[in-house]
Amino acid sequence: MNASPSTVLIVDDTPANVRVLAEYLDGHGFTVTVAQDGEEGLERARFGCPDLILLDAMMPGWDGFETCRRLKAEPATSTIPVIFMTALSDIGDKVRAYEAGGVDYITKPFHAEEVLARINTHLSLRNMQRQLQEQNEALQREVQERQRAEQVLAERSRELARSNAELERMAYIASHDLQEPLRMVASYVQLLERRYVGQLDADAHEFIGFAVDGAKRMQALIDDLLTISRVDTKARPMQPVDLGQSLASALHSLRIAVEESQAVVEADALPVVRGDGAQLTQVFQNLLSNAIKFCQEPPRIRLSAQREGRMWRIGVADNGIGVPAEYRERIFGMFQRLHGRREYAGTGIGLAICQKIVERHGGAIWVEDAAGGGTQFVFTVPACDTEKKS
Ligand SMILES: Nc1ncnc2c1ncn2[C@@H]1O[C@H](COP(=O)(O)OP(=O)(O)O)[C@@H](O)[C@H]1O
Ligand SMILES: [Mg+2]
Repeated sequence: MNASPSTVLIVDDTPANVRVLAEYLDGHGFTVTVAQDGEEGLERARFGCPDLILLDAMMPGWDGFETCRRLKAEPATSTIPVIFMTALSDIGDKVRAYEAGGVDYITKPFHAEEVLARINTHLSLRNMQRQLQEQNEALQREVQERQRAEQVLAERSRELARSNAELERMAYIASHDLQEPLRMVASYVQLLERRYVGQLDADAHEFIGFAVDGAKRMQALIDDLLTISRVDTKARPMQPVDLGQSLASALHSLRIAVEESQAVVEADALPVVRGDGAQLTQVFQNLLSNAIKFCQEPPRIRLSAQREGRMWRIGVADNGIGVPAEYRERIFGMFQRLHGRREYAGTGIGLAICQKIVERHGGAIWVEDAAGGGTQFVFTVPACDTEKKS
């Protein structure tokens, strides 16, 4: 069973008594060592680390019980199984043997076969115990490693969140501080135009026009950057939000664009959801302004609402130019636009803002073909009544 022979330590004050047994065990592949009293036995056990000890109960000096107690008290020897050898069939001795920490006892005179059988039983018990312990330790190590890995992961994601927040704060401060000098440039260029009208030639007016246009675009960019950096930093708690009202506010902000484009907007009755009202208005505003902008004929826009489990699914469909299938994910990235700014003005941040807001609400946003041509943007938001239901 074992690669190296098992070692048995016999502790007996009259070795002659156990010589036959020692020879028998030797003949069965054991390495046998002998100690003459308890003290020597403890010493040999400490340094020889035997696999099993046969211990005489009656010895001068420390008797077997005392020796066994001492063996059990030391970590180095405490796990070695001890089998007592008792000369008498005294029941009290047997009980004391177990109390002292013995695993078994044999009574003299011995039957060698029986002793061998008992030794083998206890050795294999001990082996199983060891295996169990090793498996246990390996399991514990694995658990610890996993816990460590989890800690590292948690720490990393905390760091990531920290650096994200820092980045957002920086973007916010930068955009905020850019506003003032930009206003200055724009207003002085415009002042120039007003004050020197008639004194400047056509080229000069054109150049001023470019400068003003540039300033306006930069303003739009800064506004959008501020908006996206505020999605998390200036977030308000989730509350019941009437999407009908969000739509009305968005349309109010877009009233000039709606009028100029002669857009027709139809909407289902929209639900009350759980969210951040100002942010959901922003989502509608961005989606509607796109629907109005990316159109070649008067826009027809349809808003729909469908309940799906704990979420509402809100659709904004238009009859516009459509989004080719291969670009339907990319357009949600920052600055991603499918057209030059001469064709359609814009910063390419609007949909990124929508996505960030929708994700903050635990929802998703995507693009589909609209029935009858055009595009349908769909986003999901948590329904208001889910907490009460569950
Ligand atoms: N309703 C729509 N119909 C067709 N294309 C759209 C629509 N909405 C968005 N897109 C495409 O997605 C791009 C990104 O949109 P957005 O992030 O709002 O940026 P912007 O409106 O500033 O161009 C747009 O430039 C356009 O190419
Ligand atoms: Mg847009």
